[in-house]
Amino acid sequence: MIASVKKGSPRTHGVASEFVVRNSLKGRDFIDLADLDAEELRHLVELAHAIKAGRWSHRPLEGRHIAMLFQKPSHRTRVSFEVGIARLGGTTTTLSEQDVQLGVRETVSDAARVLDRYVDGVVARLRSHADMLELASASARPVINGLTDRSHPCQALADLVTLEEARGALAGQHVVFIGDGNNVAASLIEASALAGFALTVVSPHGYEPKADVLDRARSISSGPLRVTLTSDLAAIDGATAIYTDVWASMGHENERDERRKAFAEYQVNEAVMEAAPGAVFMHCLPAHRGQEVTDEVIDGPRSVVFDQAENRLYAQMAVMAELFGTEG
Ligand code: CP
Ligand code: NVA
Repeated sequence: MIASVKKGSPRTHGVASEFVVRNSLKGRDFIDLADLDAEELRHLVELAHAIKAGRWSHRPLEGRHIAMLFQKPSHRTRVSFEVGIARLGGTTTTLSEQDVQLGVRETVSDAARVLDRYVDGVVARLRSHADMLELASASARPVINGLTDRSHPCQALADLVTLEEARGALAGQHVVFIGDGNNVAASLIEASALAGFALTVVSPHGYEPKADVLDRARSISSGPLRVTLTSDLAAIDGATAIYTDVWASMGHENERDERRKAFAEYQVNEAVMEAAPGAVFMHCLPAHRGQEVTDEVIDGPRSVVFDQAENRLYAQMAVMAELFGTEG
């Protein structure tokens, strides 16, 4: 548990008050939301709100250097981490697939042990979750998961911040994810297990979230898991948010044609949004306009996709402030 909020300070965001980092995450990795307990997750969300509102502005990365390792393309993750590290007082080196060639030019473990000698922490976007776990296990420094084939915890953390801004307390919410039960959906499932909001994942047959993701979510949930899997779009009834992601994630490009057919009925368009009148529209981005979402929806008044992108910055600053936990 993190002992963090200053005595007497509010548990909800948006109230002017100085915020204090706790140190229970110091030195830990941030691989999956499921590695946190509910209170630790709550604290990170609150710290992200506080950073965004200007209620916390310390520089715990002063004098520290973070390496970023990307095996896949990135826009938001790369830029938001680079800006966040700079705002926290740190410096960064970004390495592409070509530079380190993890598992090809050297083993994941050797690469981790070398980076340990130079830097104070690592942000990695890797193809394989198993490699992410190996990197974290071989590294003595905190490792942050910037997306794998299994999960995208930084995205889900930013999404919780966005959901609260848009629709208030998480516990009363019903998030409906329409699309591939992949990494983004998996991290939302873990978020639901810890934060207690209802989550429905609507996917075509064969593209549902994996059983081990649900098993892990059940194991961290304090009560019955509030996650429903279905292929029926009627499940959007009562949604506070409709969320979608690309039909073919990075690494699945060769399945693009078969996926376009499988997901054709699952486009988020005006008809879907009309059936969910109380819902905001969410997407982790990048979006394939005209496929999983129409221009009218993503550019419409209920879209919060650019707030989600912005909130990556504050969510990740909160994670780094805690992992590197210094004063403030
Ligand atoms: N949402 C997200 O992670 O975007 P990038 O792939 O551009 O980093
Ligand atoms: N599911 C997508 C998310 C991109 C941020 C992918 O893995 O490509």
